[in-house]
Amino acid sequence: MAWNPDLYNKFKEERYAPFYDLLAMLNKRENLKVIDLGCGTGELSHKIQLELPGSKVLGIDAAMEMLRDAAVFENENLHFEHLDINEKIQSGEKYDLIFSNAALQWLDHHEQLWPEIIALLYSGGQLLIQMPSNHDHFAHQTLREIAKESPFKEALNGWERIASVLDIAIYARILFEQGCKEMTVYEKIYPHVLTDANAIFEWTSGTTMIPYLERLPDDLKTRFANEYKNRLQTHYPEKPVFYPFKRTLMSGMF
Ligand SMILES: C[S@@+](CC[C@H](N)C(=O)[O-])C[C@H]1O[C@@H](n2cnc3c(N)ncnc32)[C@H](O)[C@@H]1O
Repeated sequence: MAWNPDLYNKFKEERYAPFYDLLAMLNKRENLKVIDLGCGTGELSHKIQLELPGSKVLGIDAAMEMLRDAAVFENENLHFEHLDINEKIQSGEKYDLIFSNAALQWLDHHEQLWPEIIALLYSGGQLLIQMPSNHDHFAHQTLREIAKESPFKEALNGWERIASVLDIAIYARILFEQGCKEMTVYEKIYPHVLTDANAIFEWTSGTTMIPYLERLPDDLKTRFANEYKNRLQTHYPEKPVFYPFKRTLMSGMF
């Protein structure tokens, strides 16, 4: 996907809050082997490293444009690799901590994926994951609706983005079935207050809208984006706009 680190970082402060909730569940130990799946611009991999003295942290990401910004955080204990999460899973290499913030929602079939990821943990290891679970919000539903209308439907060849994030009870069951000894799994609403409907548009442009735009021909990209912006403006005429954002967080000790 064509990620834009500047656009993604525009709402950095809002995106930090769930990260700090994840950190609160981190089992702090020294000299761990850590992986950050979908590390993006690497800032959070660096923050995790600072919490775990002597630990070796590897951040992997499939987007070169995000990893370019990660280079500034490289040090002897923190490295980044241009690698797909699925490839990492295939490698079978094990870790003490598998961390992932706002990335695994881009991968499908979580019922199968979770056991594969957990299999990469050493005994005593920790799984620490956060993903947006906001797919039923108007801002997300509207994207799906527009994609089903002409001429976008034809251009997208019937493609639609199916939300992969499951109900929290399902993750709890999967963790249990995989031998989790101690777990915390919860969903939380982060109550963002944005200036206006355009701010929701900008937020979504940096994430959820990307797969739609990259599949559309150039002449339809702007039309799709404008249609989306208009619908948001009609639905949210007020200023500021309340944007409640649901996220799923989990920690599992194995
Ligand atoms: C929303 S960003 C989050 C980045 C970072 N974890 C953070 O919280 O700032 C999602 C990242 O997941 C990466 N990603 C999505 N699917 C991936 C995959 N299959 N393999 C590796 N990285 C992936 C994207 O390239 C993107 O950088």
